[in-house]
Amino acid sequence: MRVLVTRPLPGGVEKKLQGMCTLEVGSPASDRADLLRRIRGASALVCLLTDRIDREVFDAAGPELRLVANMAAGVDNIDLEEARRRGVRVTNTPDVLTEATADLAWALLLACARRVVEGDRFVREGRFHGWEPDLLLGQELFGATLGIVGAGRIGRAVARRASGFGMRVLYTQRHRLPVETEAALGLSYVPLQELLERSDFVSLHCPLTEETYHLLGEEELRKMKPSAVLVNTSRGPVVDERALARVLRERGLFAAGLDVYEREPEVDRALLDLPNVVLLPHLGSATEKTRRKMAELAVEEVLRFCRGEELLHPVV
Ligand code: GLV
Repeated sequence: MRVLVTRPLPGGVEKKLQGMCTLEVGSPASDRADLLRRIRGASALVCLLTDRIDREVFDAAGPELRLVANMAAGVDNIDLEEARRRGVRVTNTPDVLTEATADLAWALLLACARRVVEGDRFVREGRFHGWEPDLLLGQELFGATLGIVGAGRIGRAVARRASGFGMRVLYTQRHRLPVETEAALGLSYVPLQELLERSDFVSLHCPLTEETYHLLGEEELRKMKPSAVLVNTSRGPVVDERALARVLRERGLFAAGLDVYEREPEVDRALLDLPNVVLLPHLGSATEKTRRKMAELAVEEVLRFCRGEELLHPVV
């Protein structure tokens, strides 16, 4: 059985597959042409969120392909319908990245609220000439309202951290949680429009689907308070990036912290030119421990598949 791993994994954990199968590992610079060439005849594929697994890839693979193990929680890079149609199983790596991603959402939230990156630039540029009563004033977190869009694993982990800041937490998602769960988590359900109007901080944690594409467009962004901060660690296309840049430029929002982009790795020029955005290169799960766990989990799915065992996190 052949297994293709599109790129070397953290800690070289793909080596665990040796002995169990014929292992082929792409180079760190592997591109789509490599993927299309190497996948022919593979039974299992370990891929990254930057690998678009669509009909062309399934065609290039041929009928031997039975498993796609994505080293990510989000699976929007995979055509799930096509996988289903062809009887290819798909797995992801949730849970292990929950706390790291929640931490990064908070890092962006704090950086935006307290103008951390602007302050750093200010000092480096030699502009700090002493304490001033109104230098780089930000927004207060204590006692503010946090709005969570998507109270799944990561959304809840972000909400849990809010108790240390004495924040009220609102949430919205397609299916309301049971009332007892809401009470246990200290979450109050409101529709999206109300969440946007009432929150001082909004953090996005929904998957990218047809329903959530441009969930926040110009109209929604303009419902938010001009003093509010938006944080996106989910997927770029959940927000209309051009509209966001416009609203930020016109100070319809205080700031935005972005870890993801509509056309990743491209970042809209309009955002790059704004002082009130903090931009990160998709680092949500990027701790040594978490990335290793994600790789181990993806590899474990392939091992289970080889041994004919039940998969841990099947999406399809
Ligand atoms: C990261 O964005 C992931 O989905 O794992």
